[in-house]
Amino acid sequence: MTDDYLTTPLDATAVENLKAGGLRFVHLGGDDKATFEAWLQAIGRGFHAPRVPAEEIDGRLEAFAERRMAGVYDDTASDAATPVGTISSWPTDLTVPGHTSVLAWAISTVTVSPTHRRRGIARNLMEAELRTASRLGVPVAILTASEATIYERFGFAPAAMAASWKLDVKRIRWTGPVPTGRVHLVESNSIRDGGGFDLLERVRLGLPGQTRFWGILWNRLFEFPGSDDAKHVRVVRYDDAAGDLQGLAIYKVVDNDHAPAELQLRYLVAATDDAYAALWRYLLEIDLIGTITTNLSNVVEPFLWQISDARAARKRDEGDHLWVRILDVKAALEARRYSASGTIALEISDTLGFAAGNYLLRVNGDGVGVVTTGEATPDAACLSLSANELAALYLGGTSAFTLARAGRVEEKTPGAAEAFDRAFRSELPPSLNIWF
Ligand SMILES: CC(C)(COP(=O)(O)OP(=O)(O)OC[C@H]1O[C@@H](n2cnc3c(N)ncnc32)[C@H](O)[C@@H]1OP(=O)(O)O)[C@@H](O)C(=O)NCCC(=O)NCCS
Repeated sequence: MTDDYLTTPLDATAVENLKAGGLRFVHLGGDDKATFEAWLQAIGRGFHAPRVPAEEIDGRLEAFAERRMAGVYDDTASDAATPVGTISSWPTDLTVPGHTSVLAWAISTVTVSPTHRRRGIARNLMEAELRTASRLGVPVAILTASEATIYERFGFAPAAMAASWKLDVKRIRWTGPVPTGRVHLVESNSIRDGGGFDLLERVRLGLPGQTRFWGILWNRLFEFPGSDDAKHVRVVRYDDAAGDLQGLAIYKVVDNDHAPAELQLRYLVAATDDAYAALWRYLLEIDLIGTITTNLSNVVEPFLWQISDARAARKRDEGDHLWVRILDVKAALEARRYSASGTIALEISDTLGFAAGNYLLRVNGDGVGVVTTGEATPDAACLSLSANELAALYLGGTSAFTLARAGRVEEKTPGAAEAFDRAFRSELPPSLNIWF
């Protein structure tokens, strides 16, 4: 996609709706520092974060340059320069089954001031984003959610999960493979500005649910500007026997006066099984560490089968993380690959209209799907569902059989849910390891 998304006018319906409520919906050009600063501080207020120090504003302005930013203003408020609503968005790539991507509209920084809550500001902002993405021809929208109760009403559903892990290091001996390459401790910037991003991109296509990310999201893995974190972050890289970068881990140790310390793993990415084993073995064998904790890890981790005591590794907080919304059924379904051939008919309802209709998906022997609109053919496995369920199923991590049992999907032909699952399943559970 070109940079048109940055200048595309705001959605006219939302502008009118908000105007009727005495509010101005404004597109931020990114060239006015004072306006940007007020917008940024409003986001911090919305998420109960501390104010961003003045010396960090320029850096943030640069970091947000690739986003489309908008604010809602109440000119009657005492501080009329600070928006009462904020949102930002940008196009990115979302990995789908089959080592490929779909163009996705990422939505972020949705906040409404506590003084203006529950009068429809967020609804207008969200519907505006969906219409804008649809107008620009982006087939799916994605977000990560602060609460699981907000976005279903806009046609989103959780499609990729994440989990936290806690490993009791003192009970664990590494029993997995011994890698053939080398782990190197390196300075953050050597990998942040060096080959790290390319590695990430290479790995991303292997796991549905990952998104292409850069700028502030990438830099944030290494440090939170101005926070104490930057002083503690350690980075290791893994080079294979040929000396090529195949993995990296970013972590921080929280020291407790030399008592066994906690290692907080911020991010681990491995292009090969060898790199994965090398990095985990390294982490588990660092002296003075009592526990390793992780956040936003994959829900299935091979390390469980590479340690002497599997009960010393506990999965915690497994749950929804990436929320998906299908805007264009044909483009979205044709972007991914399938694990079984066949014909699937979908009767889709959608309160906002984008995905509503009857569709036929024909998958050939190579796992390539072609979608047409129209009624089910006699050979089709037919399901009736809403845009939400379609979103939950899209990346292959949720089972139609389970949704049918839950009453969320209706089988119009016997065995349709199982036929759907055979085609849609993903070998690896979809996962996303960052917030955006
Ligand atoms: C979440 C938030 C943006 C909602 O803003 P808002 O302007 O009050 O929302 P709206 O008035 O447009 O509400 C739209 C709908 O969502 C519902 N809703 C809004 N916030 C909700 C919440 N936190 N939990 C459940 N439902 C919520 C409303 O009841 C309304 O439902 P309806 O239209 O089906 O009757 C706002 O509460 C906020 O800023 N929260 C803190 C920051 C945050 O969590 N942002 C989300 C980031 S992912």
